Formats: sequence, C-alpha cells, structure tokens
Amino acid sequence: MNKENPFIVIVDDDDIITDSISTYLELTTDYRIASFNHPVEALDALKDQSIDVIISDFMMPDMNGLDFLSKIKRLSPSTVMILLTGYADKENAIRAINELELFQYVEKPWDNEELSLIIKNGLDKKNLVLELTSKIEELQETHKQIADQKDEITHLYELLQKEYEAEKENVENVIVALAKAIEAKDKYTEGHTDRVSHIAVKIGERLKLSKEQLKVLKIGGIVHDIGKIGVPEHILNKPDKLDLLEFEIIKTHPIIGENICKPLKSLSFVLTTVRQHHEKLNGSGYPDALTSDAINIESRIIAVADIFDAVSSERPYRGKMTPKQVREVLYREKEAGSLDPLVIDTLFSLIDEGEINLL
Ligand SMILES: [Fe+2]
Ligand SMILES: [Fe+2]
Repeated sequence: MNKENPFIVIVDDDDIITDSISTYLELTTDYRIASFNHPVEALDALKDQSIDVIISDFMMPDMNGLDFLSKIKRLSPSTVMILLTGYADKENAIRAINELELFQYVEKPWDNEELSLIIKNGLDKKNLVLELTSKIEELQETHKQIADQKDEITHLYELLQKEYEAEKENVENVIVALAKAIEAKDKYTEGHTDRVSHIAVKIGERLKLSKEQLKVLKIGGIVHDIGKIGVPEHILNKPDKLDLLEFEIIKTHPIIGENICKPLKSLSFVLTTVRQHHEKLNGSGYPDALTSDAINIESRIIAVADIFDAVSSERPYRGKMTPKQVREVLYREKEAGSLDPLVIDTLFSLIDEGEINLL
C-alpha cells in the first residue's frame, strides 16, 4: 500500500476544468494533485511516477482519452482510471470500460462531491486489490514453503525408514545368529530351533492363524531357547537326569530369554512366547505356572513343536525314541491336560499326511 498521500492526476484540454477539479480537491482533501492540458505533455511528465487515480477528458486535440489512458495503463497498470465525457461520448466510454478496465466514467457537467466520492471509491478499490494481491503472494509463498517442507519431511522419513529397516534386519540377524550359537553349546539340540520354527508354522498355518501370528511362530521358534545362554554347558549336556537344583537353573531360561529380547523393539512381538513356551495348560509348567487361556496360542503351538522335536531326537540322558514312542509321549501329555489337545491333534494330522516327518 502507498504510504504517501494518494497522487491524483487530471488531464483535460480545458484549463477551466482542470483548475476547477484541482482546486476543489486541494481544498477538500489531502491528495497530491497534478493537472495537464495536453495528454502528450502529461505522458512525458508522468513516465516514472506512480499514479493512484487519473481523470482524463475524452475529446482532446492531440490524443483522445482512450489512447491516452491505454498508454497510462501500460506505464502504470494499477492506476484507477476515470473518464470525463460529454453526453455524446457515452459509447466510447463504455468501450473504455471493457477494453481498459476503466473504473468509471463521469458525464459533464459533473458534480464535485460525486467526483470526489468516485475518486475515494477508486482508491479504496485499488488498495483492496493491492492488499489482496499481497495476501495471495503471501499465501503462495507459504504454500511453496509447506510444499518444500513436505518434500523434505518425506525425504527424511524415507531415510529413517531405510535406516530403521536396515537396523531391524541387523538386530534380527544378530538374534538369530545368537540363537544358533546357543544351539552349538548344546550338542544334542543341533537344528532344534529351525525345526521348532518350521513345525510351529506348519501347525499355525493349518489352524489358519494370521500372518502376524505366523511370524511369531517363525521367529519365536528360533529364539525361544535363547535364554539357555545363561545355563551352564555342563547342565545342558549332562548325560544323566538333572537334579533338582540343575532343573531350577534350566527353568530360568524363559525369563533370561525374555530379558535378552526385551530391549529390542523389533522382537517385542515374541516376548510373551519366549516366556511362555514351557507353560502347561494344567498349570504344571514354568516360569509362571499359568493355566489354559492365560497361555497364548502361539506359546501353546511352540510348546508342542518343542516337545515333539525334543522327544523325537536323541538327548544326553536317553537314546532316540521310535515314532510310536513319540506319539505315545505326546498322547500322554494330551491326556494329562498339559498340552493343547487341538494343537496335538493338528500335529498328528500333519504327520499322518506326511507334512511333518518324524526324525
Ligand atoms: Fe525351552
Ligand atoms: Fe526348546
């Protein structure tokens, strides 16, 4: 917005008219006023000026009002233009409204007060347009900044996402490697975690578990015994039956396993299963002696797969069982109410169908 007083220009070949309007405006307003009696002279003098309102006569000797105003428009596009016409020039005035975006035409003889009001309205309109234009520019700038920020945020998010995925994969690889390293400590359980993971997923698929639950079975199967890292090797590999104290030590491995996985966000989904994989439906399990529904389905499946693999492979304290003996052990567990009967039946069906092989 122009901070200075508005600059009003009056152009008419009749100096009585220019004097009359100038005098009236000078007396009644604080506008800066300039008047000319020759349009060419006016154009020359106004070349570098910012004009707020121009009032021009139509019929002038060396240039008509329309030509003059169109030149002014080129010099100063935001100038408010008012055409002063005789009655006979009305048609030209209407043409000017359309072609030059003339603000208004005023017929001679004019009324000073009315003309003054038209000038004021013109100035208000000009200021409003300027204000709107600057608001639009501001909005466009803000919009551009938001768009730039959005791009930047998207880019950062993608970078973080990539880093997170890489880190997640790293952590998972480390954990899987750790689980394998623990397996190596226990010479009788080689391949145990892979087999538990595989069997558990097969049972889960047959029971139509969700994708997320199958993931728990897959990763849970691999890491379920990770807590055995805290169990001394001589206990893990003891050829005789374990004494009470040794068994108490073995019983700590689900909690140790849970504690190992706890700080790793990407393994949070298997924590419960790691802790619960030795729980029994009848409450005879460990570490929390949970019963029935308190044990989640993934833990029940891992428990069955775990026992199945344990009894069907050789152990430090006994030889390998026959397929019949394996079935009998599992059947007894089912009868005792310790393992989930539906999970056991599903395992038997999968064995019968050759989907899972006895070792
Ligand atoms: Fe275990
Ligand atoms: Fe196990």
